[in-house]
Amino acid sequence: MQLDRILQSQGFGSRKECRKLARDGEVKVGGEVITDPFAEYDENGFVFEVGDWEWEYAEKVYIALHKPIGYECSHKPAHNESVYHLLPEPLVARNVQSVGRLDVETTGLLLFSDDGQFIHAISNAKRHVTKTYRATTASPVLDTQIAALLSGVSLDDEPEPVKALTVNKTSERQLELVIDHGKYHLVRRMIAAVGNHVEQLHRFGVGGLSLEDGSLPELEVEDWCYLRPKHLALLGYEP
Ligand code: URA
Repeated sequence: MQLDRILQSQGFGSRKECRKLARDGEVKVGGEVITDPFAEYDENGFVFEVGDWEWEYAEKVYIALHKPIGYECSHKPAHNESVYHLLPEPLVARNVQSVGRLDVETTGLLLFSDDGQFIHAISNAKRHVTKTYRATTASPVLDTQIAALLSGVSLDDEPEPVKALTVNKTSERQLELVIDHGKYHLVRRMIAAVGNHVEQLHRFGVGGLSLEDGSLPELEVEDWCYLRPKHLALLGYEP
């Protein structure tokens, strides 16, 4: 594929802008500046640099972000920063979307992709991809509350009671729970429904991926990484 087409496909701008990037000496391949925008390369496994960034060609990208508090999962947030500002511009330009959403106040693992099939597969309720949350509560966690979360709580706009798959009390006011639904404010609403209140919420796992068990590279808050095939396999997804 021609260099300008490769750059365009990876989110570096229009064909014209990508030709200019090359002509301006901004693009390197194997450490060498390539000013010919029409130079041909095999795009598979193609590694190049634009400015100070090293990039690897990918037909589709899959990303994990450690979301900080105070960021909205929206391109045009009303009152907060956007999670998309935490990703490099070329990734946003190629239209990656978050896989579901986390509330502004929720921290933790958030996935993104420009592969619509992947987004659909991971967010599709029928696939039952698990999400693991740590909730810090306002009042001590009671055994009756744990039992109610496990047996299912009725929520206003849900036709059926919603159950947590597992619930572990990890300290007096903290519990970890696994759910396989992805509805709006679900964990906060479930915990409110059993008579407690979430003060902090952190999602540390999605499917077989966790921020805490080495299944992903270590991600500090605000850091992101690419998901490789082994990570996608842990989500039960094969591109
Ligand atoms: N449940 C919530 O209440 N908030 C989230 O961000 C995710 C799940």
